[in-house]
Formats: sequence, C-alpha cells, structure tokens
Amino acid sequence: MIVAGVMSGTSADGINVALVRITERGRGRPRHTLLAHAEYSFPAPVRRAILNMMNAESARVADLVRLNFLLGELYADALAKTARRHRIKLDLVGCHGQTLYHQGTAARFLGRKVAVTWQTGEGAVIAARLGVPVVSDFRPADMAAGGKGAPLVPFLDYVLYRDPHIGRIAQNIGGIANLAAIPASAKLDRIIAFDTGPGNMLIDAVTEQLFGQRYDRNGRIAASGRVLDDVVAQSMQALFFRQKPPKTAGREEFGRTYAKDFLSRCGRADKRDVVATATALTARSLADAVQRFVLRKRGRYQEMIVSGGGANNPTLMAMLRNEIAPLGIALRFSDEFGVPTDAKEALAFAVLAYETWHRRPSNVPSATGAKRAVILGKISYA
Ligand SMILES: Nc1ncnc2c1ncn2[C@@H]1O[C@H](COP(=O)(O)OP(=O)(O)O)[C@@H](O)[C@H]1O
Ligand SMILES: [Mg+2]
Repeated sequence: MIVAGVMSGTSADGINVALVRITERGRGRPRHTLLAHAEYSFPAPVRRAILNMMNAESARVADLVRLNFLLGELYADALAKTARRHRIKLDLVGCHGQTLYHQGTAARFLGRKVAVTWQTGEGAVIAARLGVPVVSDFRPADMAAGGKGAPLVPFLDYVLYRDPHIGRIAQNIGGIANLAAIPASAKLDRIIAFDTGPGNMLIDAVTEQLFGQRYDRNGRIAASGRVLDDVVAQSMQALFFRQKPPKTAGREEFGRTYAKDFLSRCGRADKRDVVATATALTARSLADAVQRFVLRKRGRYQEMIVSGGGANNPTLMAMLRNEIAPLGIALRFSDEFGVPTDAKEALAFAVLAYETWHRRPSNVPSATGAKRAVILGKISYA
C-alpha cells in the first residue's frame, strides 16, 4: 500500500509530505520504505493568517472555518504535486493538519473540565481532490481516552529506533521540541515521551524581531554572538521545565509573550548575543529534560537521534552535542536511519494512518497519558 503523510507544524513554515510504501506479510510488523518527500513553504499571507488564527483572542470563527477548508486545498495540492513528480499513485493519506489550539490538560469551561485540540485542514477536501481516503484528526481520540493527545510520533520512533542493546532518545526539534526515550530492548509501553519546550520557536521569534529574518539560517547569527549565561540560567527556572511529564507545549506556552519576556531578560545586550542565548537556552532545555526526567528514572541511554528543522542549525547542534556529551550520550541524525530529518513527522502520520486504516490502535499510552490504546483519527472516504 502506498500511503502519503502530510504535516505542518507549529512553526507554520510550510507543508511536509512523505510518500511511503508499507508492506505487511503475515503477522510480522509492517515494513516502511520512504519513496519520496518534499517540503512546500506557505505563501507569506497564508503563514500570517495561520499565526493570527493561533491567537485565540483575535481569531474570528468565519476565518477559522475558511482556513480549515483552504488548508485542505493546499495539502491536496502539495500531495498531488509530489505524487505526480514521482509518478506514484496513492492509496491512502494521513493528514496531521495545522494545530490552531491545543490544551492537553483538562481545564474548567462552562462548568465542565475539558481538554481540547483542533487540527485544521479539511480531510474531506483532500479526499475529494485526490480520490483516495484520508485519515485526519489524529489527536482527539487519545484525549477522549484521557491522554494529552501528544506526542503521537513515538509509535514510529519505536519502530525505527528500538534496539536490543542501545538506549535511544528520539529528539524532534520543530517549533516545539519533543523527545521519546526508548530503553534498550524495551516494549512499546515502556516508552516515555513529552514536549521539552521550545525547539526553533524562540530562536525564530527573536531572529525575526531583531534581524527581520524568519529564522537564523544555518545558525550563523548565533555563531557570531556570545551566550548570556545568566539569562539561560534564569530562563531555566520557568515552571514548565520543572513540570513532570506527560506534558505538552505549543505557541500557548512559548509564543509571542514568552519571546517578549525573554527579550526583556536580555536587556540591552548585543542582538547577536540574544540569538546566541536563545539557541543556548534551547539546547540546555533539551539536555535538562533528559537529565531530569529520562536518565534519573530510566537508566542508560547512549544515543540521541535528532530530526526536525532544528537539525539544520549547526550552531544549535554543536551546543546540544556539548550539553549531552557529559551525560554519555552521542548525537546522531535520523538520516542515518533512512529518514531525512525534514520528512520524519510526515512519515509518522503516514504510518499512523495505515494503522487506523487497519483498525489498529497507535497511540502510546505511556507517552500521552491515555488510559488505554485507541484507534486514532477520522476517515474521509473519497
Ligand atoms: N537551514 C536552517 N538553519 C537554521 N534553522 C533551520 C534551517 N532549516 C530549518 N530551520 C528551522 O526549522 C524550523 C522548521 O522546523 P520544522 O521541523 O518544520 O518545525 P514544525 O514542525 O514546527 O513546522 C524553521 O522555522 C527554522 O527555525
Ligand atoms: Mg514545518
């Protein structure tokens, strides 16, 4: 079966597509072969609209609904283009969609406690345009079962990285960073996974604010600055970093307001030093999460395997390597496991869609906090 995964993350930078062949013989585990992947940037006005719609205070319902259908069209375009270019016929699509709001922990609303999430990008539109069934809306079923709805990628991390002798930490660095720790020779239910905090989100925000560039391309600005160690230390005091997993984060926690507070902590420092400091804080928060919540509890890990856009930032990678070396952990990249760093999450949603199509559960309760394993997603038939 040929399955396409389509993903757009909290960075709102664009659409990632992965085309995968999945084969299954008898009772063996399905095998995945990545056939193609591609990335399409959002046009600037679409990106701006997405960021505005993530601002729950100012978003208007008519615009939210329009965006939901528009993204369906854009995802369909991206999928069709990739399939055409590689002359591949799709059988199924898994669409993560664009998260506009995620609140993984139940909070009181009109007298009832509810945990809520919304990924936009209408599956019915994609199914109609491509003529294949689409699985979308992966997160609500996990939340209805008491989970935080995230992270869902650990299902794939386990397939890719489990090893009889090596303990591995899968570290994805998108807008938000999240990890999945897979102990040596572990069963699926031994995985712990959670969001560690900002991935590229803070770096992007300060770079945009101070340099008018969308991100610190190849970490050049950070490499030219000096890290303000006291700001890093002070920022690490934030409650989120100390909170025990399971935990999730988004723009709600590390968006505009967070960046503004960070900038004010940096005071009048040189602009390059501010970007260097944001990068160092990001690296430190990843290592700190490992030390605090992974190593202390679950023994030995030898490797951290990085994916996501942050893998393209050499300054961030050098800082991260330095942070985890004293923990006895080596830095590796998902490419070494046959998964390009920019294709990993799209691949994950192809694999999750395949499981749903076969009526099999694919959340990892130890990662999301759900009470049980459930079948994820909703299906739009073509
Ligand atoms: N060449 C690069 N140099 C530095 N940072 C990069 C580079 N390429 C991508 N990034 C970072 O990766 C981010 C996108 O990562 P991605 O994994 O797509 O996140 P998300 O899942 O949140 O969309 C960009 O916003 C940028 O910060
Ligand atoms: Mg992205």
